[in-house]
Amino acid sequence: MIRTGRGRGGLRGPRSRALRDGAWRRWPHRPGPRGRREASPEGPHRRLRGRGYPAAVSTCLVTGGAGFLGSHLCDELLARGHRVICVDNLETGSLANIEHIRDPERFLHLNLDIIDPYHIDEPVDFVYHLASPASPIDYLRLPLHTLKVGSYGTHHTLGVAKHKRARFLLASTSEVYGDPLEHPQPETYWGHVNPIGPRGVYDEAKRYAEALTMAYHRQQGVDTAIVRIFNSFGPRMRPLDGRAVPTFLRQALANRPITVFGDGSQTRSFCYVSDEIRGIIALAESGYHDPVNVGNPDEFTLLELAETVKQVTGSTAEIVHEALPVDDPKQRKPDITLARELLGWAPEVSLRDGLQLTIERSGVELLVGGSPS
Ligand SMILES: NC(=O)c1ccc[n+]([C@@H]2O[C@H](COP(=O)([O-])OP(=O)(O)OC[C@H]3O[C@@H](n4cnc5c(N)ncnc54)[C@H](O)[C@@H]3O)[C@@H](O)[C@H]2O)c1
Repeated sequence: MIRTGRGRGGLRGPRSRALRDGAWRRWPHRPGPRGRREASPEGPHRRLRGRGYPAAVSTCLVTGGAGFLGSHLCDELLARGHRVICVDNLETGSLANIEHIRDPERFLHLNLDIIDPYHIDEPVDFVYHLASPASPIDYLRLPLHTLKVGSYGTHHTLGVAKHKRARFLLASTSEVYGDPLEHPQPETYWGHVNPIGPRGVYDEAKRYAEALTMAYHRQQGVDTAIVRIFNSFGPRMRPLDGRAVPTFLRQALANRPITVFGDGSQTRSFCYVSDEIRGIIALAESGYHDPVNVGNPDEFTLLELAETVKQVTGSTAEIVHEALPVDDPKQRKPDITLARELLGWAPEVSLRDGLQLTIERSGVELLVGGSPS
């Protein structure tokens, strides 16, 4: 049923077993309106042309579906009644993020490395392409993998979307703006990226992936979308993944020194995961093709974030300062005018509430997990 390019990945793990054992049933193929598209399994045939796709049962392919954002996306798509094929080789994700999904009829995990060509024989309506290392610790550890997943991985996944005549959404990033000279950052800003610095592997992989996506749209007619995700946070972030929110929470909850890079005056905006996922799905269902920022425009210095984490956790940990990483952006704040006007989207969860929800839903033990530094 699933063919992989060079024999890596393949059918492994419990979900893949479900596939082999037939628990994931193939849906009957019905020709599309012009007799050349694959059909959705249930409900009226709904296909993806024109703005604003009606909500009906769809089959969604989610690359990176066992990661932080991807697993929340899988949850939300399933909650809305859709079926999900999650493709993830667990490079930076974890089965623990999806093991609560016990619905072999509607959810399937395939352990595939998308750097190799892959094919999916099921009809697919939406492709959400999230697979990529995303935290600085990961992409600095995996520079070549990061470049390959942004290039080959995106190429192969666009190929799947083209073959399936599916709507394709690329998870891009605010990192395409680099250390921005324009503030806040609108989608029209071309960015200020150091292509040869250590962070360049991630920033340029995503910029290349955006260029590839637009080329597939312009030349191949693939129905594509690009979401530029700004820092997001919530349950299932790994305590040791190096990003500010899980690091500060881990340190504060363990009453260890909270390590702020530089003097902490650099700014970021933090979007709670449920807001981010709502925006991503709204964009996927919009029919819009150009990039759209989805992030929370409330801007905080890193020092303010550390103080807020201390207040929310009731921690007495001291704040200490460490050297700034190379090419660390000095400021970040999305201009979300387009998302507001196009999608009617705006974030609803404040930083403080999001931190509280993260603690409640993760539990202190998980947030402190690993060896505290
Ligand atoms: N979390 C954020 O704040 C944020 C911000 C901007 C952009 N993004 C983008 O959103 C996406 C998801 O980010 P995340 O925070 O959930 O990261 P994550 O590391 O938790 O998830 C990425 C997933 O992709 C999988 N993956 C990596 N390489 C793969 C490969 N070759 N084949 C198959 N699967 C592979 C990993 O195993 C992991 O499960 C990424 O594309 C990232 O660039 C995230």
